[in-house]
Amino acid sequence: MTPERERGPEKCPQICRLSSIMAEQQQQQQQQQQQQPAAELFCSDSEDLFGDYDSLLQDSSLLDRLDDAEQSERQRDVQRDVQRDFTNLRTKTDEDVLTDSILDAMGEEDLPPSMQQFKDQVQETRVRLQGGDQTSTPLRNTKTSTPLRTKEESRPPRGGGGGGGGGSSRRRSVADALKKTMLCNAASPAMASRSAALKEAVLSEEISVAMQALEEVSEEKTPDLGPFFGLPSRVKELMLRLKGIQSLYEWQETCLNLPSVQRRKNLIYSLPTSGGKTLVAEILILRELLCRKKDALFILPYVSLVQEKVRGLASFGVELDFLVEEYAGSKGRFPPVKRKDRRSLYVATIEKAHSLVNSLIENQRIDDLGLVVVDELHMLGDGSRGAIIEMTLAKVLYTAKSTQIIGMSATLGNIKDLQTFLRAENYSNDFRPVQLKEYVKLQDTIYEVDPKEEDCFKFSRLLNFKYSSSMQKLDPDHIIAMVTEVIPKHSCLVFCPTKKNCENVGALICRYLRKDFLLLHEQQKLLLLSQLEECGRGSVCPVLSRTVPYGVAYHHSGLTGEERRLLEEAYTCGTLCLLTCTSTLAAGVNLPARRVILRSPYVAADFLKRSQYKQMVGRAGRAGIDSEGESILILQEKDRLTAKTLVSAPMEKCFSNLLLDEGKGLRSLILSLIGLNITWCVQQLQDVLRCTLLSVQEEHLCVQPSLKEALQLSLNFLQENQLIIREGETLSVTRLGKATYKGSVDLLYSSILYKDLSKGLEGLMLNSFLHLLYLVTPYTMIHQVKPDWMLYYTQFTQLSAAEQKMSAAIGVPESFVARRAAGQTVRKSANTEVVSRMYLALVLFSLLKDLNLWIVSDRFQMSRGFIQSLLSSSSAFCSCVLHFTEELEEFWPLRALLTELTRRLSYCVTSELIPLMEVAGVMEARAKQLYNAGYKTLTHLANADPAVLSNTLENLHRKQANQIVASAKMLLSEKAAALQEEVDDLLTLPKDLPSAPLISL
Ligand SMILES: Nc1ncnc2c1ncn2[C@@H]1O[C@H](COP(=O)(O)OP(=O)(O)OP(=O)(O)O)[C@@H](O)[C@H]1O
Ligand SMILES: [Mg+2]
Repeated sequence: MTPERERGPEKCPQICRLSSIMAEQQQQQQQQQQQQPAAELFCSDSEDLFGDYDSLLQDSSLLDRLDDAEQSERQRDVQRDVQRDFTNLRTKTDEDVLTDSILDAMGEEDLPPSMQQFKDQVQETRVRLQGGDQTSTPLRNTKTSTPLRTKEESRPPRGGGGGGGGGSSRRRSVADALKKTMLCNAASPAMASRSAALKEAVLSEEISVAMQALEEVSEEKTPDLGPFFGLPSRVKELMLRLKGIQSLYEWQETCLNLPSVQRRKNLIYSLPTSGGKTLVAEILILRELLCRKKDALFILPYVSLVQEKVRGLASFGVELDFLVEEYAGSKGRFPPVKRKDRRSLYVATIEKAHSLVNSLIENQRIDDLGLVVVDELHMLGDGSRGAIIEMTLAKVLYTAKSTQIIGMSATLGNIKDLQTFLRAENYSNDFRPVQLKEYVKLQDTIYEVDPKEEDCFKFSRLLNFKYSSSMQKLDPDHIIAMVTEVIPKHSCLVFCPTKKNCENVGALICRYLRKDFLLLHEQQKLLLLSQLEECGRGSVCPVLSRTVPYGVAYHHSGLTGEERRLLEEAYTCGTLCLLTCTSTLAAGVNLPARRVILRSPYVAADFLKRSQYKQMVGRAGRAGIDSEGESILILQEKDRLTAKTLVSAPMEKCFSNLLLDEGKGLRSLILSLIGLNITWCVQQLQDVLRCTLLSVQEEHLCVQPSLKEALQLSLNFLQENQLIIREGETLSVTRLGKATYKGSVDLLYSSILYKDLSKGLEGLMLNSFLHLLYLVTPYTMIHQVKPDWMLYYTQFTQLSAAEQKMSAAIGVPESFVARRAAGQTVRKSANTEVVSRMYLALVLFSLLKDLNLWIVSDRFQMSRGFIQSLLSSSSAFCSCVLHFTEELEEFWPLRALLTELTRRLSYCVTSELIPLMEVAGVMEARAKQLYNAGYKTLTHLANADPAVLSNTLENLHRKQANQIVASAKMLLSEKAAALQEEVDDLLTLPKDLPSAPLISL
């Protein structure tokens, strides 16, 4: 514990009581309410326009009207609250007083000291506050945010192998750095006890036994596996220490002991959510790395999941001596650095995994990859991302001699097709560590879901609530009654159909919670709010600042990644007991709950799919914590029949997406097959295509045209677009074709990109980033924005003369923007795509200048979540454009510029924080904290003592500190190893060095 942590709140200047925060909010809301239209009060942003992986909202349903009612009601509530003082949350004189069991429990109590203090502060601040700062959405806190500590205040890091504080700016040569690391490495065993040395010896002995066992298995003798499923017993200890797993579930043992698994056959296994699928995959990965000494690739669907996995596995890598390399966003090298004596686990997103496999094939290194694991294999059926998984796997299947493929999923309807595609065995089990009970609610009755019953819904109980008429109006679905049955003792997730609805439901629930909710985990909630404020540079979303004190928060893609991380961590450790969220939470993060409520069977305007439903209800029940989990789907009578199908129908089938969007996937697969020299004639192409899921499902999917015809059509398209050349029977790619697949550029945009870059080079404006930013603004995001002409014009007028000239040159002159801003008709219309792209470039430009998401979100009236996703898409696209230009000599001047731009877009922070943010999962606020505490470089972090780190930094749990240090160690050793490889390469005598000609005597 740090002194700060031990001290009570009154002694800690950074921590003020929840009540005072609430008081400030009240005032801010009061001002805000006077200065803003009602609609803006509780919808923190306009992100509904910009759903990223959420569907776009066309919610004209009842929910929308309900949201409006909730908003205006809440606004009135704010007025009332302000009038009667916040402490009187619900007085019995109120018109819509709660009269049910919840209210009974609330009662009228004496004010607890914190609330009394809060009340006093409200009074005090009211007197003090005259006018004050204008608050807007997002809310800018009037109080000054926690200042960064000065150098003198910041503590130098202690412990560890001599990272040392002081921040010496002395530059060390590569050789020095390597020497130091090696010295450290050499020093550590010396410091370790004899028993540690013995342990090492046992480990290597066990590995060699296990390797021998594996060899025997592959020779099909009786398997004699190592002590822990073919792995050293040290792995078992680590599983316990790092993951808290004492023993394997029965199914996990069975699955690992399957003869087919031992013979390294491809495998698909499917189990319900939370069944523990990951552990099996991880054991197989460790076997591949440690025993077979081959690299492994772990494919996960989202960047957040990749980072979580890298953090989680880094400690295993440090202990067991393998590398964990992150391939997400703009991270990852192509081809990966070749390691001589250590194996690598590449943890990658779908897109990065594809590029990685391409680069390995191109460099004839695909056989280094011993294992490919695909999590959430059902995503094969998920649009264009599914097509990318299919391309990756098809290439591995065709080119690799002995790479094993393992796919896992909870939701697979047509496993046979997938088995045929992957030539895989199948293992299924319906094990769930915590029993899941599914319910639906219709009016005030709860029914248990029982697909075996004829009616499917079996009466279970009547919901116990007594609502006043006005409360009934506000909460017709009785969400409050259902959540208060479980919180605060247990956790609860409420899935909502829209982002806006998440915020409204969260605020609605808090409105009716007892005030003693405020007293639970008070310190932790304060810390959470201060962290949110820190990552918002003094701003906290008004909805969150109102709900967090009650232990409630919303969670959706309108929040920044950092905010989401903080909320997830707070929920996991019990500071928050309820999250209102969109369906993305079910797929993107592992956050189980005792009770899961589905506010409606819709995602935006679409009825839920079976797989979505299963994934959401599957979050119910936390292994090791809850004895059971339950889900309640709230239904309206009109949806009853459809919902029956939803809860009882078999899983949806998963179909190939190569033919999606006029065969975009197929075309790009063919292009890369030719480019990578996997094939160069039509006949061979047909052979490779037999390795696709599309071929397995040919009868179903390729009715017209047939697969053969689709292949011909694709070749025609590629030829017409100058991406390939046909010379007789021989196929080859053009330079543009090569750049396109190397840069993973969408075929639809490759020639547009080429033209834009060429035109850009003709008059590249380099005295600011604007022109370059325009060139790397992703085409795919253009349609997600509708410029606000007044804002556009304001921003335009602030550009320099050179920037305005450049804008005019690409087709957005000032006169056009001015006319649109004035609402006048424009005689000569501009290209709307160019105009929107320029608008997005202005957003990015603003972001790079201010390095503050919140200010820019305010400025452009866009949600910070959208701006962050614009930023991450742009950094990813920038690195794609960079790879594109690397193949085209005429774009040489752009290469250096784009390398630097990718780096800036990837981090978008002040440069001193970048080395710290390279560590998986260290985001800006954490990096700042670390920096201020004296951990200024990767080397500082890698050598830090986790105990000291967690004591020094506020709200950094020991487990997180361990993960940060392990990830930093991993990254450092990865970088050092890469340099070492380079040194070795430089010093190795070329095998083909011409020798002196023999002189005949
Ligand atoms: N043998 C075990 N003993 C105790 N806990 C376990 C065991 N195996 C896995 N777990 C824990 O169970 C939880 C769920 O596991 P996991 O994430 O692998 O589920 P999953 O099957 O992949 O579910 P989903 O389909 O939702 O991704 C994790 O917290 C994991 O650590
Ligand atoms: Mg999983």
